[in-house]
Amino acid sequence: MSEPVPSSIQTVVLVGFMGCGKSSAARRLAQLLGWPAIDLDHAIEQEIGTSISQYFACCGENAFRALETRHLEQSLRGRSILATGGGVVTREQNRALLKDAQRSGLTSVVYLRAQPQTLATRIRRQPGARPLIDGERVLDWAQTCERVRVLLEARSHWYEECADLIVDSDELSSHQVAQIVAAYVAPEQTPPPLF
Ligand code: S3P
Repeated sequence: MSEPVPSSIQTVVLVGFMGCGKSSAARRLAQLLGWPAIDLDHAIEQEIGTSISQYFACCGENAFRALETRHLEQSLRGRSILATGGGVVTREQNRALLKDAQRSGLTSVVYLRAQPQTLATRIRRQPGARPLIDGERVLDWAQTCERVRVLLEARSHWYEECADLIVDSDELSSHQVAQIVAAYVAPEQTPPPLF
């Protein structure tokens, strides 16, 4: 699963649970490879003109998922590093889009895996930003951990199933994650990381 691949890769898709560091790793990776980074959630917020939390509150999760699928499909067409939202793998249509892109040989999907406690710690740094965690009420530490644990358990198999490469990111900086992914997708351009 983690053998380096030839550099025909044009699109790197980062998947993983909320708080796993997809957006910051995507920015770092884009710097390393000199490719553009696209943050799917950010692109959606630009389109709807409001935050994802507010959009969930007014229009519901299904409306958000429809937007997410359209943005995913559009973003898979060009050379880029794509940071997805944590729920992208929950829709069969999205998993099929990823699989088609991987079959073309031009796209690699990377799962940034992290432990529930790591994810909960990072999620709690932005209270109210994740509608599926604390969108309805303020949660304490134990409640946040439990919510993360339950959702992660339901989704883990999809992240793993979609991934060409899995990076355990608990102890890594975004720069280190980016180095590992760069060495995998563009081995001739990137020396293997030394840590
Ligand atoms: C979601 C994750 C969020 C955002 C939305 C739904 C999810 O993105 O797309 O709140 O279902 O896991 P991040 O993973 O960037 O937080």
